[in-house]
Amino acid sequence: MSLSKRFAQATAITQLMDDLNRGAQTEDMIMLGGGNPALIPAVEQALSALLVAAQQDGTLLHAISHYDGPLGSDRFRRTLADYLVRQGWPVSPEHIAITNGSQSAFFALINLLAGSGSGRGKGRVVLPMVPEYVGYGDLALEPDLFYAHLPHVTRLGPHSFSYQPDLETLPLTGDDALICLSRPTNPTGHLISDADLERLRERAAAHEIPLLLDLAYGQPFPAIQFEPSQYSWRPGEIACLSLSKLGLPGVRTGMVIADPEVIQLLGNFAGVAGLAPGGIGPALATPLFADGGIDRWCQQLITPYYHRHQQQMRLWLTDLIADPRFAIHRGHGTFFLWLWFEDMGFDSDQLYRSLVAEGVLAVPGHHFCPGRTRPWHHARQCLRLSLAQELPLLEVAAMRISKVVARLVKA
Ligand SMILES: Cc1ncc(COP(=O)(O)O)c(C=O)c1O
Repeated sequence: MSLSKRFAQATAITQLMDDLNRGAQTEDMIMLGGGNPALIPAVEQALSALLVAAQQDGTLLHAISHYDGPLGSDRFRRTLADYLVRQGWPVSPEHIAITNGSQSAFFALINLLAGSGSGRGKGRVVLPMVPEYVGYGDLALEPDLFYAHLPHVTRLGPHSFSYQPDLETLPLTGDDALICLSRPTNPTGHLISDADLERLRERAAAHEIPLLLDLAYGQPFPAIQFEPSQYSWRPGEIACLSLSKLGLPGVRTGMVIADPEVIQLLGNFAGVAGLAPGGIGPALATPLFADGGIDRWCQQLITPYYHRHQQQMRLWLTDLIADPRFAIHRGHGTFFLWLWFEDMGFDSDQLYRSLVAEGVLAVPGHHFCPGRTRPWHHARQCLRLSLAQELPLLEVAAMRISKVVARLVKA
């Protein structure tokens, strides 16, 4: 199919963004659908202070009146490199590219490094475990580039289950170009353990396949992670960071950490595709990284907020939906809750539509299997909720969800 034909149809991600927009215009709809971060009052205050300071010291004016180079603001790249070195990452500014959001970084990386032009046969992108981020699905310009591996699904106890990556049967070959995973994972909150990550690294190294780690929710920032982990970037790997989930999705700032050759490739591509990334995000964030304020911001304002929301919503839902077939994934991060309605007589589409009618917008589970050519029955029994709304709204949503589920079970 030609590219114009392909993009004439809505892709999964544009459909999702459109639905969310439409939902936002419906009165009384509780929006638990999108990936927008919460409007945390203390974060908004801190952001306003950053904006005022950037205006007063002239950095905002400079950012909007100049093009940066294709790799982004040199001042920000130096400051970020110093910050990452303090986290123990062996990097310098030559390891950093700034992009217009991390989504556009994935687009560039996947199309530059994977596919038939990669010199690695088909050049597949391997997702070691789905459910995974829906936004990877349509990124590759070449068709059928993704391969998605299914996890082990384990019931842990009443209303609780977990996924475990099945790394031993993950079919890697020298024809694979990239291994990609989000950590923690959107939509499930799964945090691949340090031991599993090490095992994945070993398996990737055996075939010389680079690992692309999407840290949009993880450490070092925004650190929406409820268990510590030891990740530090290593040469040969690609780590993608973002300012979005800190509360700044509108500035569209992503950061890629990779070997200097990969960074140069990205810079050359970015120059052609967009001249330079926007400078407002880097201008605002530079002081936060320079004085380590970013860590206080994450530890005091962001991580506890989402942790509280996660624990509370879990309690509400498990209190309200007593059916033992209902379970919530034991997540260790992100601001999502992943629900499983095992063999309860309805699928995720029916649940989605009934919830919309009841005034709750969530995302049906089957969207989160990018790269799966065959349907996965399990995902059709799942639903993702965002926890970015305020607690009183989440409580109303939990009541509406339980009402809908009770109705569907009876039907
Ligand atoms: C796992 C994951 N990665 C990447 C992104 C893209 O973020 P951005 O392009 O805003 O940096 C998102 C956005 O929702 C996400 O959930």
